[in-house]
Amino acid sequence: MSKKIESHLSENRIFKPSREFSKKARVSSMAQYRRMYKESIDKPAAFWAREARELHWQKRWKKVLDWKPPFVKWFTGGRLNVCENCVDRHLTNGRKNKAAIIWEGEPGDKRILTYHQLHQEVCRFANVLEANGVKAKDRVLIYMPMVPEAAIAMLACARIGAVHSVVFGGFSAESILDRLEDSGATAVITADGGYRRGKIVELKTSVDEALRKYKGVKRCIVYQRTGEKINMRRGRDVWWHKEAEKASSSHEPKGFDSEHPLFILYTSGSTGKPKGILHTSGGYLVGTYTTCKYIFDMRDDDVYWCTADVGWITGHSYIVFGPLANGVTQVMYEGAPNYPDFGRFWNIVEKYGVTTFYTAPTAIRAFIKAGDKFPDRHDLSSLRLLGTVGEPINPEAWMWYHEKIGSGRCPIVDTWWQTETGAIMISPLPGCTPTKPGTATLPFFGVDAAILDDEGNECSADEGGRLVIRKPWPSMLRTIYGDRNRYRKTYWNDYKGIYTAGDGARTDKDGNFWIVGRLDDVLNVSGHRLGTAEVESALVSHPDVAEAAVVGRPHEIKGQGIVAFVTLKEGVRTAQTTDKILKGHVAKAIGAIARPDEIHLTPALPKTRSGKIMRRILKELVATGGVTGNITTLEDFSVVSNLQKNLKK
Ligand code: WTA
Repeated sequence: MSKKIESHLSENRIFKPSREFSKKARVSSMAQYRRMYKESIDKPAAFWAREARELHWQKRWKKVLDWKPPFVKWFTGGRLNVCENCVDRHLTNGRKNKAAIIWEGEPGDKRILTYHQLHQEVCRFANVLEANGVKAKDRVLIYMPMVPEAAIAMLACARIGAVHSVVFGGFSAESILDRLEDSGATAVITADGGYRRGKIVELKTSVDEALRKYKGVKRCIVYQRTGEKINMRRGRDVWWHKEAEKASSSHEPKGFDSEHPLFILYTSGSTGKPKGILHTSGGYLVGTYTTCKYIFDMRDDDVYWCTADVGWITGHSYIVFGPLANGVTQVMYEGAPNYPDFGRFWNIVEKYGVTTFYTAPTAIRAFIKAGDKFPDRHDLSSLRLLGTVGEPINPEAWMWYHEKIGSGRCPIVDTWWQTETGAIMISPLPGCTPTKPGTATLPFFGVDAAILDDEGNECSADEGGRLVIRKPWPSMLRTIYGDRNRYRKTYWNDYKGIYTAGDGARTDKDGNFWIVGRLDDVLNVSGHRLGTAEVESALVSHPDVAEAAVVGRPHEIKGQGIVAFVTLKEGVRTAQTTDKILKGHVAKAIGAIARPDEIHLTPALPKTRSGKIMRRILKELVATGGVTGNITTLEDFSVVSNLQKNLKK
């Protein structure tokens, strides 16, 4: 089906969608893509108004775009209810009894919620929130396992205009505390626990620990998932099911301003403190709706499955808001991909007839390592479209995904985007774009992507530079919560009126974008962003640690692994502060995903004369074992030669 243009250089392998796929797709030729892309760039207001009209607005907008760089408003004057668009809209368009969520728990329990049932549950929970004093604009922290109630909680918040902030269930109590304090949350929605790799993750215990230090939370609503005994504090904690019993299953969805805040999601940056990325209602919904429609080519008989967690932006945009706004049937799975073994995902694909499968390169690499016998045991013929997100996909992984999972039949959409962009920005359209392993290919409609050099000139083909977006787009972040200056400084400081993504990239002669990786001190571990500064400050918070420097190193499965260089305080004996204690300390401070792969104790770190740690040197040392770059600014040369000897051991 897919045509392979022969070449021995991996960059030259080109795969075109089959004629059969193209014929049925929404965008079926490159000519159509170019025509629509041109309109979206030349006349963004006309383009986006047409898309927005497919959604339900309680009051039509006055102006599509109001751009005062770096602050933007979309669909100003318009009023809508995001939840109504994702749920209620489907009760009258023929989808009422269609499955919205097909859920499977890790232990094997199953549930199906139709749009009608989802509506009842969301309404009930919106009433529960209101009965518990949650109002529009209040911040609500959500810390849940991957159960339908996670999505229900998010939708119910949106329905009443409350601003949710989901914290990934793998993050620690300290991470919860940081986010409670920064957002000023007044309510928490959590569960007793969840299942992961056969074990119970005790979510409520972590919430309790955070709430011992943060006193602003008046209500904590607890969903019962595992039935384990937990602590319920009288006057503050209530059970979801008991509250729901008292609540009505109807609830009027009020219209909110298009720029009403929808959610805050924290993500890592170059400094220690995670940034609260703020997304608002109208533009975000239009962006996620439209990208789902064209990039996943969603249709009514699809069974769509995105394997992300709702704790990440991918879960927000491509499990909750985008797919539900499209009225698709989706699979949601609670647990680990390798539980009870590496066949779990393929078992789910076969069982539910998944047609569209969206996952991360790190998962694909883990599957390759586990062996072909797992996918070989399952019938994957229902699949028609595959996707990846989170990091650059290496061509070997792309080829395996294409051949082993897609049988050479399914287009792969390698989607580049960020927490900040809200929706996919660079990606093939499955019915028309020729794909090459390793590139996210071309910008989506309305996305004016370019690669600039330090002076702001556009780079020529194959010349590396910074990835930027030159025009505002509907689902872009509006600010960093509570810190407009940091928003300006982080994204709009390199070039006037232009968004810098923080990624290095180049284009090839066909205009395809190749993402090289982050330019700032952000690591990408298993597709998840972690700031080196965050890990460093976690290390330094240990009483025995004087100083720490963290760098990434290529890792076979995770993409990047974490290597830490640590100097202990005077008088601390190294035997006391073992590797294991420090690794555990970081995991406790941030979460297991931040646990360093290697810790090297060193009497000193390489520094400039002004005292700045030279991470560039450490990076080179771990990558190559030596240092070739300019080290004349180094204060003490012996530090490097000692480290070199140490690393060889
Ligand atoms: C990286 C995840 C290459 C990139 C949606 C970006 C990618 C960061 C891709 C955002 C891709 C994401 N190809 N790199 N297809 N997708 N990235 O905020 O470095 O968790 O800046 O959003 O992941 O990570 P975030």
